[in-house]
Amino acid sequence: GGVAGGLIGLACSMLPGPASIAPLPAGANADASAWSAAMLERGRQIAIAGDCAVCHTAPGGATNAGGFALETPFGTVWSTNITPDRETGIGAWTYEAFARAMRQGIARDGRHLYPAFPYTSFARMSDADMMSLYAWLMSQPAVKQAAPETKLPFPMNQRRLVAGWNWLFHDDAQYAPDPQRSALWNRGKYLVDGAGHCGACHTPRNALGAEKGGFAYLAGGSAEGWDAPSLVATHAGTNSKAGKSGAPVPWTEDALFAYLRTGFSPEHGVAAGPMAPVVAGLADLPESDVRAIAHYIASLSPPVEAAAAAHAAAARASGANADALTTLGFQNGQRMFEAACAVCHAASGGVGHFGVRPLMGLNTSVSHASPDNLLHVLMNGIDQPATEGLGYMPGFKDSFDDRQMAELAGYIRARYAPDEPAWRDLESASARVRAQTH
Ligand code: HEC
Ligand code: HEC
Ligand code: HEC
Repeated sequence: GGVAGGLIGLACSMLPGPASIAPLPAGANADASAWSAAMLERGRQIAIAGDCAVCHTAPGGATNAGGFALETPFGTVWSTNITPDRETGIGAWTYEAFARAMRQGIARDGRHLYPAFPYTSFARMSDADMMSLYAWLMSQPAVKQAAPETKLPFPMNQRRLVAGWNWLFHDDAQYAPDPQRSALWNRGKYLVDGAGHCGACHTPRNALGAEKGGFAYLAGGSAEGWDAPSLVATHAGTNSKAGKSGAPVPWTEDALFAYLRTGFSPEHGVAAGPMAPVVAGLADLPESDVRAIAHYIASLSPPVEAAAAAHAAAARASGANADALTTLGFQNGQRMFEAACAVCHAASGGVGHFGVRPLMGLNTSVSHASPDNLLHVLMNGIDQPATEGLGYMPGFKDSFDDRQMAELAGYIRARYAPDEPAWRDLESASARVRAQTH
């Protein structure tokens, strides 16, 4: 891929690039009178499903005014201003220019955009949805604010190379429904692959940053230092393991629906980290859309009986025998857990508190191959719950040093994921995750 990419990139940088699309004439704003209230509402929902504001809003900044830093393996890419300001935003963009950016990753002036912007997914959207999205964005308040310029190191600063990348990896076809499948399934796949861009985080990427295809589809990727677990199980046993998906209990369609709708599934736990804003966005979609997503995701794995999943959950909830662990050198971790965590996370009892009570034995973060997600939660807690009612969790980065974090995480792993191998080098993993926290 690298060599071919280089050659194609070279060819692309010699051929004429894409043309610039003429701006809307000054004063002639996009024709708002053509847009119905229903269309604007649909556009608002798509913008939320597409997380536009999650990436296009700087911390504490004006919505969609850009300036959010996306850390990629190739350097920092700054999101742009997508409010309808004519100079610093997309106020002068015609629908044609907007749709080209969303489907082909080419800005109005003909510049190639980096695929950190998930146009690779947004291309699947229908024209009707794209038009609603444009209408909604253009009807929002204009904010004059220039986003910081993205300056990647050579050769990535040559935006023309992205033409070669697109040639290799990007398919700009709109979603084509599968006539063999139900309307619900097709709706789910359309949302997952298109506006929802679930693969941007849940599909692993190749060395050039493109989502892998085939069996790698939704098989587990990464986002902002977190692991985005696999959404596909290779086999769903009635035993404690749900195949490659990493979830200790197999996901049923109903559990997926509850997780995506409320941010919590009693058999799995909560949506935290980069998944929290995704769930917060889905909360604005009609229930039928979230049901369609759950239906489609469930169809990717072997069917799971609700009773079998409930049985697996009950068997996992309390974890391994705690007495046996004390003789194995986990006393410190156990003491920390009892003192700092059990009050909110014990399988039963404990003092009453607001919010949910995720059980360690059911949490993917605890049975996952890498400890990073658990360490992120231990360091930072959860101060922005995916939905109201989940409650908050305090962070412990100032209470525990790396050695203590390692003892705590090591204990949680041994107790609550007893059939998984122990995590290695937890102390340095803790130091690494600590360095990523702000
Ligand atoms: C994962 C983060 C992410 C998400 C989600 C995202 N964008 Fe972006 N977008 C970016 C980045 C980063 C850029 C700048 C890319 C570059 O400079 O090459 C960008 C660029 C753009 C541009 C080009 C603007 C210009 O001035 O060149 C448009 C238009 C755009 N995004 C619209 C949207 C819309 C609409 C949505 C929601 C449906 C959305 N984006 C969701 C990250 C994102
Ligand atoms: C910005 C990155 C990102 C996007 C986009 C994203 N996810 Fe996630 N997802 C994550 C991360 C990170 C986790 C782990 C969260 C945790 O441990 O609390 C996760 C967890 C999940 C889980 C729980 C998996 C498990 O075994 O615990 C499901 C189900 C899920 N996501 C579905 C989806 C669907 C469906 C979409 C698209 C509508 C989506 N995600 C889009 C990052 C993302
Ligand atoms: C004050 C109550 C409280 C305490 C103390 C607490 N937690 Fe939590 N924890 C929560 C709540 C509430 C959530 C779910 C929050 C949400 O999603 O908004 C949570 C979520 C979690 C999750 C799930 C994260 C995910 O990505 O799925 C893990 C793991 C966790 N806590 C571990 C711990 C550990 C280990 C400790 C002790 C060091 C601890 N918690 C202390 C309340 C608490």
